[in-house]
Amino acid sequence: MDERASKARGLNRLRRAEHVDAAPADAEKAAAAPRPPAGQPVVEFRGVHLAYEGGHVALDGATFAVERGEFVFLVGQTGSGKSTLMRLLTKELEATAGTVRVAGRDLAVIDHKKVPFYRRNIGVVFQDFKLLPNRTVYDNVAYALMVTGHSRKEIRRRVPDILRLTGLATKLHAYPDQLSGGEQQRVSIARAFVNHPPLLLADEPTGNLDPETSIGIMQLLYRINRTGSTVLVATHDHAMVDRMRRRVIELEKGRIIRDEATGLYARDENTREFAARLRGDLSGRPDLDGGE
Ligand SMILES: Nc1ncnc2c1ncn2[C@@H]1O[C@H](COP(=O)(O)OP(=O)(O)OP(=O)(O)O)[C@@H](O)[C@H]1O
Ligand SMILES: [Mg+2]
Repeated sequence: MDERASKARGLNRLRRAEHVDAAPADAEKAAAAPRPPAGQPVVEFRGVHLAYEGGHVALDGATFAVERGEFVFLVGQTGSGKSTLMRLLTKELEATAGTVRVAGRDLAVIDHKKVPFYRRNIGVVFQDFKLLPNRTVYDNVAYALMVTGHSRKEIRRRVPDILRLTGLATKLHAYPDQLSGGEQQRVSIARAFVNHPPLLLADEPTGNLDPETSIGIMQLLYRINRTGSTVLVATHDHAMVDRMRRRVIELEKGRIIRDEATGLYARDENTREFAARLRGDLSGRPDLDGGE
């Protein structure tokens, strides 16, 4: 399958998961971000050190690779280096030593003028949502398309679409302070995903949310992952990590002390079964799922 067809298929899977009919042309146009050539890891760290000004070593010889389509948890105590690792991926920080590659590209050689273009390939979700407070839900998401050069027409077509997919169809005109925490996080995920980035980073996305709302957010990230995006989630939520049974990379004082590919057997469950398992309710009704 060629690249465009693969991306369109990914979007259609997301739509099916949300019971929304797709216009094929829409799906085709929606996915503009490049993906790594086949066989190339999406993320590759080799012997990466990061010392902050003042000499504090936040990453110490980190080496790992993440393949396309993986869902990876980054865990570790506060200060262990999880956010630092993510900020290296967005090129907010430069490795002091070692190599960081994304889709085969050494980030050290990307000219600083090209960094904004590079960042279009990465969606980022934060614990505190980072929404624009004086803009509506619609405008918060539209902004992400505006800065990536989409036309007004395209924005008008795509924003309601992604908000429907993330369960926010009735909140288009609400302002962030009129939304619950879970809804705000859905907006930030919609904003991160509206450009269909091949890589999505979420730094403690459920850190401010209650357990039930957290399940909904993880379910949404899982659904996005199933469309083909590679997803990295930093979290302190042990119960969630244990239940999701995805790959876990653990950091301690900047070193990787564990890298386990747990639970791959659950790879093909549908999102409703997945949510049921997260709730500890294995009698969930997969027959109600939207045909995944
Ligand atoms: N700008 C900075 N300047 C100096 N030291 C920093 C800076 N940012 C982070 N650090 C230090 O680097 C280490 C790693 O920080 P980092 O934010 O990556 O940890 P973390 O695993 O994300 O923690 P948390 O779970 O609390 O979010 C910590 O000891 C922190 O104090
Ligand atoms: Mg952090």
